[in-house]
Amino acid sequence: MQEDLRVAVVVGSTREGRVGGDVGGWFVRCAAARAGVVVDVVDLAEFAIPVCYPAAPTEAMARFARRIAAAEAYVVVTPEYNRSFPASLKQAIDCAYDEWRAKPVGFVSYGYRAAGRYAVEQLRGVFTELHTATVRDAVCLDLLEFDSTNTDRYAHAVSTLLDELVWWGLALRDGRRARPYCA
Ligand SMILES: Cc1cc2nc3c(=O)[nH]c(=O)nc-3n(C[C@H](O)[C@H](O)[C@H](O)COP(=O)(O)O)c2cc1C
Repeated sequence: MQEDLRVAVVVGSTREGRVGGDVGGWFVRCAAARAGVVVDVVDLAEFAIPVCYPAAPTEAMARFARRIAAAEAYVVVTPEYNRSFPASLKQAIDCAYDEWRAKPVGFVSYGYRAAGRYAVEQLRGVFTELHTATVRDAVCLDLLEFDSTNTDRYAHAVSTLLDELVWWGLALRDGRRARPYCA
């Protein structure tokens, strides 16, 4: 029998009064029914990642990197801040390097008007540098319409994201086991 794919859901906002916790929880509830996947919620609000990058990793940075290393695929939950993603998310992403490598990344974004799509497009460049495969379809939530108690409305988008993530996750698991990644 195939091992469950270990998916880390990274909740990117640490803002006081954030809605990111609700959005992350909503996505995990939507994804829970998915067979073959086991989810680890990596909530950045639980990691005191330093604003100034230190000479040596802090305990929080090392703990974050270990959780990233343990996962085989990622879903990054991001708001849009000034047409990009929040600094808290970039500071965390930069705490790991090899740990991300040769694994897929999907996105759940939220905001107004563009529903966080600008944040997603900027994150794709960051994750290319980290040798990940970003999946095509994202779940993009307009906060004017979003209801965290409704898991039906975006069911198709969630399912499409997970279909792509799981395909890449299993393919890259096999690939990493078959041969070392080239970089
Ligand atoms: C500094 C800042 C900049 C923002 N810029 C945008 C933006 O460019 N586009 C957008 O749709 N929403 C923008 N927003 C609204 C956020 O998407 C919205 O407040 C969301 O709830 C933020 O996520 P959070 O509550 O989880 O931190 C911005 C919010 C903040 C705090």
